[in-house]
Amino acid sequence: MKFSNTLVYWYLQNNRELPWRKSKNPYFIWLSEIMLQQTRVAQGLGYYLKFTSTFPTVFDLAKAEESTVLKMWQGLGYYSRARNLHFSAKHIAQELNGEFPTSYAEIIKLKGIGDYTASAIASICFNEPTAVVDGNVYRVLSRYFGIKTATNSASGIKEFKTLAQTLIDPSQPGTYNQALMDFGALHCKPQNPLCVSCPFSDSCVALEKKLTKELPVKDKK
Ligand code: ADE
Repeated sequence: MKFSNTLVYWYLQNNRELPWRKSKNPYFIWLSEIMLQQTRVAQGLGYYLKFTSTFPTVFDLAKAEESTVLKMWQGLGYYSRARNLHFSAKHIAQELNGEFPTSYAEIIKLKGIGDYTASAIASICFNEPTAVVDGNVYRVLSRYFGIKTATNSASGIKEFKTLAQTLIDPSQPGTYNQALMDFGALHCKPQNPLCVSCPFSDSCVALEKKLTKELPVKDKK
C-alpha cells in the first residue's frame, strides 16, 4: 500500500535512535511505552535508562519495594502508572513464571495496559498487526485522508481505529507503528508541519485543500 510504503521509507531515513528500539524484549518495550504515556521522549529517556539499569529484569522490578519504584518515578507524574507497573511486574514474576504474555489478547489483560500499549508491545515484540492510535496518529491520518470526523467522538474513535488497522503493514507492524509515531512527532506536527519537504505532498488531502490547520477536528466537550 502506497501510504504504508512511503511512511516506512521515510522512517528508515529519519527514525530517532532510541534505546528501547535496540531491543525486542517485551519487558523493556513495556517500560518504555508506559513511561511515554503523557510524557515526551526527551523527558522519558533518562528515566528509562535509570529504570532498566536498576531493574534489568521483570523479577528485579517485582522484588523492589513500591516506595523505591515510586521514588524512581518522581518527576514523571501520573503515579498510578508506576503502581500498575509494579503490580503487573509482580503478577508476571509470580503467576506467569516471569514470561511476558505474547499476544495482544493476553497483554491487554495486564493492569495498567490499554489498547495503545497492548498494540505497541504486540506489534513491536511479536509482529502482531495491531495498529496504535494516539494523537499523532489522529493528526497524520485526518490530514492525509482529509477526515473531518471528530477524533474524540465515538464514531471518530471507531473510524480512525478501523482505518489505522487497514493501513498497517503486516510484514513489519512494529516498524510501521513506530514510523507513524515518529512521523507525527517530527514531521506532521500540530503547529508548523513540514509540508514543504513532505513525502506525501503529492497525495495529502489536507495539503491540497488547505485544511492542514483545521485537522484533526476535536469536538468541544
Ligand atoms: N511514544 C510512545 N511510544 C513510542 C515509541 N515506541 N517511540 C517513540 N515515541 C513513542
